[in-house]
Amino acid sequence: MDKLVVAGGTSLQGRVAISGAKNASLAILCAAVMATELVTLENVPDIRDVQVMVEIIRSLGAQIHRTPGGSLRILMTGPPEEMPPYHLAKQLRASNLLLGPLVARFGRAEIPLPGGCNIGLRPMDLHFKGLIALGAQLSLERGTVIARATRLEGNRVYLDFPSVGATENIMMAACLARGQTVIENAAREPEVVDLANFLNCLGARVRGAGTDVIKIEGVDSLGGCLRYAVIPDRIEAGTFMVAAAATRGDVVLENVIPRHLEPLIAKLREAGVEVEEEEDRVRVRATGPLNPIDIKTMPYPGFPTDMQSQMMALLSTVPGTSVIVENIFENRFKVADELKRMGARIKVEGRLAVVEGVERLQGACVRATDLRAGAALVVAGLMAEGETHIGNTIYIDRGYFNLERKLKMLGARVWRTPLESDELVGKESAKKSASF
Ligand code: UD1
Repeated sequence: MDKLVVAGGTSLQGRVAISGAKNASLAILCAAVMATELVTLENVPDIRDVQVMVEIIRSLGAQIHRTPGGSLRILMTGPPEEMPPYHLAKQLRASNLLLGPLVARFGRAEIPLPGGCNIGLRPMDLHFKGLIALGAQLSLERGTVIARATRLEGNRVYLDFPSVGATENIMMAACLARGQTVIENAAREPEVVDLANFLNCLGARVRGAGTDVIKIEGVDSLGGCLRYAVIPDRIEAGTFMVAAAATRGDVVLENVIPRHLEPLIAKLREAGVEVEEEEDRVRVRATGPLNPIDIKTMPYPGFPTDMQSQMMALLSTVPGTSVIVENIFENRFKVADELKRMGARIKVEGRLAVVEGVERLQGACVRATDLRAGAALVVAGLMAEGETHIGNTIYIDRGYFNLERKLKMLGARVWRTPLESDELVGKESAKKSASF
């Protein structure tokens, strides 16, 4: 067990290459169990969440390994030998994305109700509604969701909210259903589009991904895919952009799709940050003082909830009053308490946070309360006076590939060190209060 130490005060300078998208990779790995032939995936980040998903898929009986070049090769020839065990599924909310693929291909899925970051209620009613509309029979037995079907039937599914996970689960299941499925009010996130492109590479017939109506013509079986490269991670990119702005740095991000970053770029520009976009690169520069801004998180193409905490850290030292409204996950403001320990002035009321910019943050001992909270504390640490010690690094490792190495290459002073004995006590109580 270790902690991340960030010594603040250095402005980030240089270039950083962005890794493949965590959330797209997790969904695509689940879709790969529907492929009857070999699948080769590139640009899948070797982060903890992916490692857990690889273990889950291996537990189903799939052959899966990483080549020396970094690609993932997956082959699932027959029905699952066993269903995902609880100790793995509980670590990863995205394990729920196996429900659709397994019931569609094998007629049976048993998924322990998932864990993941403790950022809100995160129900699965929309996933269930969609799968039931396709003819699956669902039941909950001793904490495990059981889905059964002979052959799924295409149908029209209206989502009350454009949930990313529900759109992905239903879209995957519909690929092997008989006839047409139409998902209305579908999520439009780039990761949904990436998943649809991968499914089409396997021989599926998905149209409209990226709009709010997705149409899927079911096919009898899916083949393989010789090479599919996952899109860059817009949230990792966004985190480095905010870190560059927060340290008044000058950073070029390589291997990004600037279009996916538009909601963030618009807000950074409003705050006075200079952002230059090229084909697959973005340059972020902040020299002078920044302006306070208001943010509302929304489904894509609105401002992403996964960037809200990092922006809160940035705004905590911007003079004036910024207002943040969190519309997606109700527990995403837990990070405010940690930022307050560093001297930030933030008032939270329900889904609203009012941030009064202070001149400087001070380094402190803090702990990540979820993945993006961890990223926000790194941003805060980079601009703080003195050292910030961040506990619960396990959250950060879930979603950021080589974070310290990338930060160091930009000039940051950051390292890991073992937790001290009194911090270990805190760690145990933190573990008990987590959602697992
Ligand atoms: C995905 C992302 C996560 C991101 C989120 C929103 C992955 C692995 N994770 O999470 O990083 O923050 O999208 O962009 O891709 N909801 C329901 N019923 C449901 C499903 C969701 O009410 O059946 C609600 C949730 O409680 C939440 C909102 O819908 O308030 C959005 O959730 P959703 O889009 O499903 O997020 P995830 O797929 O869990």
